[in-house]
Amino acid sequence: MIVLVGFMGAGKSTVGSLLAGRLGLPFTDSDQVIEQRAGRPVRQIFAEDGEPAFRALEHQVIAEILDGPARVLALGGGAVEHPGTRAVLARGGDPPGSPRDRGDPSPRAPLEIVYLHVSYEQALQRVGGDGDPESRPLLARPDLAALYQRRLGVYAGVATLTVPTDGRRPEAVTEDILARTATLL
Ligand code: S3P
Repeated sequence: MIVLVGFMGAGKSTVGSLLAGRLGLPFTDSDQVIEQRAGRPVRQIFAEDGEPAFRALEHQVIAEILDGPARVLALGGGAVEHPGTRAVLARGGDPPGSPRDRGDPSPRAPLEIVYLHVSYEQALQRVGGDGDPESRPLLARPDLAALYQRRLGVYAGVATLTVPTDGRRPEAVTEDILARTATLL
């Protein structure tokens, strides 16, 4: 299982599907699963239910996917804000009370958590240029730059591998991840 984390515009979905293609694994984008389950776009869930409700649903969806078959999973940029999501990532995808949680070895294959690093400037350029800034409720936040700064440490804290993406094509980032995880997969 490979999990991609990082700020909006890091390229998690694009790189994730390229990576999945190269590895012959299914690709899942947590935002898409949330939208299917809620029957509404992320923007509407934020507007109608608020961010805490979105994060709770996001956590539930991610924990379920991590407990399932191997795949490449791209997480929404704020998924790591939820302590339960950080905890399940730290347990290698195991549910609470599982062998690893009790200090025993887990039968599950190790989780590779790849942090796609993007600078704030490039993130804004990329999401501003993707045609639908309306679909990303976070862009309306006045404290977006501070949020970005704060999250840097959170992404780095959960990651098992950090890959720079500024000025690089998704194909190059994908090859980098493959080269650096070859011995682990
Ligand atoms: C969010 C990022 C979005 C989406 C939601 C909240 C965030 O995902 O989950 O709009 O808090 O950073 P992407 O990172 O795929 O844009």
